[in-house]
Amino acid sequence: MLDIERVTVIGAGTMGHGIAQVAAASGFIVVLNDVSADLTAKGLSAIEASLAKGVEKGKMSAADRAAALSRLRPSADLEAAVRDADLVVEAVPESLDLKRRIFERLDALVPEGALLATNTSSLSVAAIAGATRSPQRVVGMHFFNPVVVMPLLEIVRSEATSDVAVRAALEFGRRLGKETIVVRDAPGFATSRLGVVLGLEAIRMLEQGVASAEDIDKAMTLGYRHPMGPLRLTDLVGLDVRLAIARHLHAELGSDAFRPPDLLERMVADGKLGKKTGGGFYRWE
Ligand code: 3HC
Repeated sequence: MLDIERVTVIGAGTMGHGIAQVAAASGFIVVLNDVSADLTAKGLSAIEASLAKGVEKGKMSAADRAAALSRLRPSADLEAAVRDADLVVEAVPESLDLKRRIFERLDALVPEGALLATNTSSLSVAAIAGATRSPQRVVGMHFFNPVVVMPLLEIVRSEATSDVAVRAALEFGRRLGKETIVVRDAPGFATSRLGVVLGLEAIRMLEQGVASAEDIDKAMTLGYRHPMGPLRLTDLVGLDVRLAIARHLHAELGSDAFRPPDLLERMVADGKLGKKTGGGFYRWE
């Protein structure tokens, strides 16, 4: 488990293709899997664009970019994608049912000694691992958007996660060049539990007319030195993603701080999901 070379990422969306990119750029052989060839192709072209931007910004050479791409393979066939994996990182939408269904299949398909990771933002790692017969090899690996830029990897251990699985996850994070933290399997872990409160409160302030979206964000960027205001960040993460986390944390922790604001519910129902749909609290090109 400690000797990881082949990584399969399940889910070619924003987080999945980001994780696949960073892993390939760090020397791992990577398979990017999704349910259709169209989705894996979209993920790959996002990786190509981001690697090109990395070259343009002087973060990597053109040769390293080409080498990273040569280590990446798309696959729309789950069984073939995970057959030789040393590590599988699941990065599908934040639905416990969906993740449990995937982990149930992974348990049967992935070699016994391999590490299984979920990139959940807030769901219980134990509940996801409970779909397998080997919960000791299941760990949370929570990455941050944009994965190529954000330095943190939050590692979540459930009561069943083995010490060797945590060590393998820490070593993987180190090889990706990420800083790591290890957090207990509590709702929202360390990051989402704190970050989501700020985002939801900013939406409530906008709803109540306390200030404009721009000025609420400016309060945090200039007054607190956050790199980005909480509303712009909600656009970047995706309003649907934030809403799903808020609902889950509200149900789990019971605190009103996590109650989803009406404005967020309405915007998601209207398809205003943020950067990925071109509009949220801001317009995006
Ligand atoms: N490849 C390599 N490096 C890249 C790159 C790429 N494709 N794109 C950008 N970079 C580098 C740049 O060169 C730059 O490096 P430098 O600091 O050494 O000069 C750095 O990344 C910043 O890039 P930019 O200058 O293009 O962008 P900004 O300075 O405008 O920063 C931002 C953009 C990084 C998004 C910043 O605004 C930020 O940190 N925002 C907050 C993001 C955040 O909080 N994310 C977490 C969200 S929560 C989450 O994801 C959890 C999930 O569960 C929902």
